[in-house]
Amino acid sequence: MGRTLQDPPHPSLTITDNRTGKTITVPVEHNSIPATAFKQLNKELAEGDRSEDEVELDEAELTPWRVWQGGIRVYDPGYQNTAVIQSSITFIDGAKGVLRHRGYPIEQLAEKSTFLETAYLLLYGELPTKAQYTLFSTEVMHHTFVHRDLEDIIGSFRHDAHPMSILTAAFAALGAYSPEGNPSLAGQKIYTMDTEASLQLMDKQIFRLIGKSITLAAMAYRMRQGRQFVAPPANMGFADSFLFMMDHLNETNYRPHPTVAKALDTLFLLHADHEMNASAAAVLQVGSTLVDPYSAVSAGCAALYGPLHGGANEAVIRMLISIGGPENVPAYIERVKRKEVVLSGFGHRIYVSADPRSTIIRKIADDVFALTGKDPLLDTALALRDAALKDEYFISRKLYPNVDFFSGLIYRALGFPTDFFPVLFAVPRVVGWLAHWRQLMLSRNVKIWRPRQVYTGEGERAYIGMKEREEKGTEGTKRGGEPTKVQHPTSTRVFLARESKL
Ligand SMILES: CC(C)(COP(=O)(O)OP(=O)(O)OC[C@H]1O[C@@H](n2cnc3c(N)ncnc32)[C@H](O)[C@@H]1OP(=O)(O)O)[C@@H](O)C(=O)NCCC(=O)NCCS
Repeated sequence: MGRTLQDPPHPSLTITDNRTGKTITVPVEHNSIPATAFKQLNKELAEGDRSEDEVELDEAELTPWRVWQGGIRVYDPGYQNTAVIQSSITFIDGAKGVLRHRGYPIEQLAEKSTFLETAYLLLYGELPTKAQYTLFSTEVMHHTFVHRDLEDIIGSFRHDAHPMSILTAAFAALGAYSPEGNPSLAGQKIYTMDTEASLQLMDKQIFRLIGKSITLAAMAYRMRQGRQFVAPPANMGFADSFLFMMDHLNETNYRPHPTVAKALDTLFLLHADHEMNASAAAVLQVGSTLVDPYSAVSAGCAALYGPLHGGANEAVIRMLISIGGPENVPAYIERVKRKEVVLSGFGHRIYVSADPRSTIIRKIADDVFALTGKDPLLDTALALRDAALKDEYFISRKLYPNVDFFSGLIYRALGFPTDFFPVLFAVPRVVGWLAHWRQLMLSRNVKIWRPRQVYTGEGERAYIGMKEREEKGTEGTKRGGEPTKVQHPTSTRVFLARESKL
């Protein structure tokens, strides 16, 4: 039978609010529904309702372009089922272990492409022609140079500063050297206007950020060793230039080892993007305020630094060292199951089968170990992986090795310091962040990412004077409900001085 005018739009959901009996029809597009549609489900404030729950809504104020307070909110802590953007960059099927950039499977890109070519693909949507690639790679490598002041900025960190602290700060500082790329100074709409000038300005910042990422990362590395910084070399590729700036001393015609450079280039390619992850979301959240892209990338770095995200590769090595050897794996697995520790490098919000990147990385590890010798931690890692994959705790939760499980072992075999591993993740991920940022800016209608909350705190109450508070006392104060007394290294001396009343 044909559809009639009375039929609800197709495809759609029909949702009934059992509190009021009201039914709404919500369109389904790409198997998603607009969260704002739920605002139509509102009701009068009744006994037992908190006004803070915003149940009431003046329907006259409900328009597609303006969302006022009131109506049902979609509560989704940790964004477990909230799509924040329509994107055409990267696709993941977590159940089947599929990862594609612009439609191309990651396995094919890892085998046949290079980091910079994949960067082009992520940013601009298609694999480049020779001329397009030459223009892009020349621009990126041309922009590897940084202002001399960056030497002072990076040099001012303590020798034991975590390199991610340095990198995060360095990206933010970089923005101060491109005032023409700063919407706060050059105009709010510099990136969102549909003009050639807007595109040029955007791409210039993109070339700068990708090019300078290796220079800043290499500077963070050398600073901690007290080595002078090295200028970007001529006629080298992206990974080669990075290794050169890290390692060159006084050798003539120094060139990084081709197997090492190739392995790093492929690792960069594998880390370039991973759709709407925590750091990409951070970049877009911050970028949605129309702040400059340097600040947005710095925010991405901060998000990546955490041990649940890019810091996991570092955490894996620390975990393997702490386990001590394959013989201690069963005891560690038991500790994980008792929830005393986590199995770093395992589990993923999206993958409920093997992370395809971890399979490719395992192969790269063999190439690298053939050159460097096997890392003694590999036996522990393999024993841990095998034990976890057989254990009901991990099977039932669908926890598999992720990208970080083996990458740290390769970085270690290549002689990178453990705390430098997240930097090796952040450098290539600058590309993914910028691809998402560019896509957002090109959508023209950039809405500020301003999420909602469900307020569960106190209702309105009257101010209480300190005297009355004193009388009431602090009996019954919740744990965490007042400042904690902290220890200061000088507290004993200061305490004695105060007590002496001199
Ligand atoms: C990646 C990660 C943050 C995803 O988190 P998430 O989607 O919020 O999943 P949850 O934390 O809700 O995990 C679901 C269950 O699996 C358990 N779990 C998840 N990852 C685990 C891990 N690595 N070790 C032990 N248990 C783990 C959780 O404890 C939880 O168990 P429960 O249901 O008994 O409470 C999480 O798997 C993790 O912390 N992994 C280790 C860090 C890491 O490798 N990060 C890099 C990701 S590329």
